[in-house]
Amino acid sequence: MVHNLSNSPGLLQVFLGELRDKEIQKDRERFRRNLERLGQIMAYEISKTLPAKEVTVESPLAPATISVPAAEPVLCCVLRAGLPFFNGFQDYFSKSDCAFIGAYRGHNKEDLSFDIELEYAAMPEIEGRHIFLIDPMLATGKSIVKAAEAFFRRGKPSSITIASVIASPEGIDWVEKSLPDSDIWVAAIDKELNSHAYIVPGLGDAGDLAFGPKTA
Ligand code: URA
Repeated sequence: MVHNLSNSPGLLQVFLGELRDKEIQKDRERFRRNLERLGQIMAYEISKTLPAKEVTVESPLAPATISVPAAEPVLCCVLRAGLPFFNGFQDYFSKSDCAFIGAYRGHNKEDLSFDIELEYAAMPEIEGRHIFLIDPMLATGKSIVKAAEAFFRRGKPSSITIASVIASPEGIDWVEKSLPDSDIWVAAIDKELNSHAYIVPGLGDAGDLAFGPKTA
């Protein structure tokens, strides 16, 4: 199921607008900070849908019962662009175990095509746990699906939640086809992918904007 948070106005739209703005996004620190803020907002929105349990806390005056997530999800950061967005999730799910997956586009020399290469995977026990795959740009959807497959090789999670800032319709289609039981959370679904598989209008290269251009 797709949860599109762009359907309501509010601060999420302000931070997303700053990420997209070609002048404001030149401020690398602000770019990272806005990704982190969106991670916090999305973590909060998703938390409302997680299985809950009631706990009682003692205030100085009397016991009070509250409803909280029954278990912390495992947060998986898809490196490198995922880092600031992931930090926002970790700010709120502060006790979560975390996983890290390194995914990059291995470009073919002859044309614009590429394969997704996974090079680094560090993950905790995942059997029966809620996994959040955190990557700000859901472009082709190939890296998120490969990341999910890396989890499936280690065990059977109870659920897969994909969190992205901007998705393309192609990326959503690919994930829905490849991971039909997953939940997809996005702050926006944009028009299309260009010939380099960048999301249009999108925001550009999230990794380069957050951390600087790479040479390989
Ligand atoms: N990764 C990005 O950083 N931007 C895109 O538009 C697509 C993939």
